[in-house]
Amino acid sequence: MIKHDVVIVGSGLAGMRAALEVCEGLDVAILSKVYPSRSHSGAAQGGIAASLGNSEPDSWEEHLYDTVKGGDFLNDQDAAEEYVKAAPRVIYELEHFGCVFSRTPDGKIAQRSFGGHSKPRACFSADRTGHAILHALHEQLLKRSKSIKIYSEWYMHSLVLDGDRCNGIVVSDIRTGAVEVMQARAVIFATGGYGRVFNITSNAFASTADGVMAAYRAGIPIEDAEFVQYHPSGLYRQGILFSEAARGEGGYLLNGEGERFMEKYAPSRMELAPRDIVARAEQSEMDAGRGVDEKDIIHLDLRHLGEARIMERLPQIRQLGIDFIGVDCVKDPLPIQPTAHYSMGGIPTDKFGQVIFDAEGTHVRGFFAAGECSCVSVHGANRLGTNSLLEAVVFGERAGRGALEYVKTVGHAPVNESHEKTKVLEQFEGIFQRDGKESYNDIRKEMKTIMTEKCSVFRDEEQLKVCIDTIKKLQERYKNGKITDKGKLFNTEIYEILELGNMLGMAEIIANGALNRKESRGGHYRTDYPKRDDENFLKHSLTYKTDKGMEIKYKPVVITKHQPAERTY
Ligand code: FUM
Repeated sequence: MIKHDVVIVGSGLAGMRAALEVCEGLDVAILSKVYPSRSHSGAAQGGIAASLGNSEPDSWEEHLYDTVKGGDFLNDQDAAEEYVKAAPRVIYELEHFGCVFSRTPDGKIAQRSFGGHSKPRACFSADRTGHAILHALHEQLLKRSKSIKIYSEWYMHSLVLDGDRCNGIVVSDIRTGAVEVMQARAVIFATGGYGRVFNITSNAFASTADGVMAAYRAGIPIEDAEFVQYHPSGLYRQGILFSEAARGEGGYLLNGEGERFMEKYAPSRMELAPRDIVARAEQSEMDAGRGVDEKDIIHLDLRHLGEARIMERLPQIRQLGIDFIGVDCVKDPLPIQPTAHYSMGGIPTDKFGQVIFDAEGTHVRGFFAAGECSCVSVHGANRLGTNSLLEAVVFGERAGRGALEYVKTVGHAPVNESHEKTKVLEQFEGIFQRDGKESYNDIRKEMKTIMTEKCSVFRDEEQLKVCIDTIKKLQERYKNGKITDKGKLFNTEIYEILELGNMLGMAEIIANGALNRKESRGGHYRTDYPKRDDENFLKHSLTYKTDKGMEIKYKPVVITKHQPAERTY
């Protein structure tokens, strides 16, 4: 059995920041499916929000209001307030860690506009902000390699829970296939989201709901799973992200008639309305036959910015266009469509990153979560761009501190190693021995297609029922799948099969939550219930696994400063 004081699963911003906080005097491990600098945090490129006020006067109060309005008033405002207050300190800390931010002519950290933010608040490193922060934190981690051990390319299978206490995880080494129990006094999940459930997504291949589903299987509910964010500027058909920085720098969105259509949907904010509104506007234009070339295409036009500005502020976007579709945005508009980008829901935590079981806030002792896999919920029903890098860093730090305080009070608890290991080994053997007829690849493709077609920007009861029914059939077919690689060494196929199992479970939770929420709020829009319904749905959903299937319970929203109001832009 492997033993550490604290084990962190996930090596993106939240996981790395948690490790830096908790490592003093403790033996800490970070475990990740990928090498840390390849983590998906590196894909959030446009910026990280903080009310520094370097371009225009700003305040945490304004940042809070924008966040709550952007989240359609489903945010827990106590947590959101502490989060926006922490932002300026966090930016300076990142700078001191070595993150190179773009500058104003007088040497201050530059800030650009972003959707739903009333002030230029996004601190950025050209259009590679997530990447810059990821590398700065990774360097800090390497500096502390005596107390932080990194397990790269290891897979987390399950949580070891004993009643309300978490005592470790079960993992395997992807290189050798060896299954191990990792005993720990505290576990922190920073496992990211689940955009890979969808066909068109900006998410990395690793975003497959592993952490969220491990928690769900262990009896922990999933909060607000129905709220998935569709980012307005994914590359047509491929979903790869063209950062919102493009619109922050003044890019236009044009329909097939060459019209800046956002004037009809959000006249005061235009292209810089929150993402849910822009994504719906794009989809409405395309559904009305006003897509470019009568296809599901909108144009992102940057030509008027000029080559110099594009090269200074948006060099990655330019390169992505050239590399992937041979379009140079200096000369031609980029073809885009909404892409599944971010999960507002996740493992429920309190504002200190400790995981909770229920609406009463009962803690799971020794278990913490931060970043996209968690739901605090600071973003409510729709996250504003640049608020996720901030969330990862702020709540990574908090979860790390929470774990640090917790382990002062407990030692390692006994773990039944062979029992825990056997469950995973049996799962492996089941997949290896099964001589099924179904192709896992076909099942994956069908899941992604149905989720993108029926559980997307616009939803309704009929489509969601078809979606759930299809997912259930795919879950049955999954039990009859056939693996082709039966080897142990670097068998990536078996891990993709495990990930697919997680995604099929997650897809059902998302669609079921969407069917249950009979209103429209933030990223969740029901064409059959087009209005927000505060009377019946101003509450968080908690989906539990029960013997009879899924059960949805509710948790009240924490409202402090801002009463729900009509959301216009
Ligand atoms: O468009 C972007 O740069 C994404 C940023 C984010 O999701 O916060």
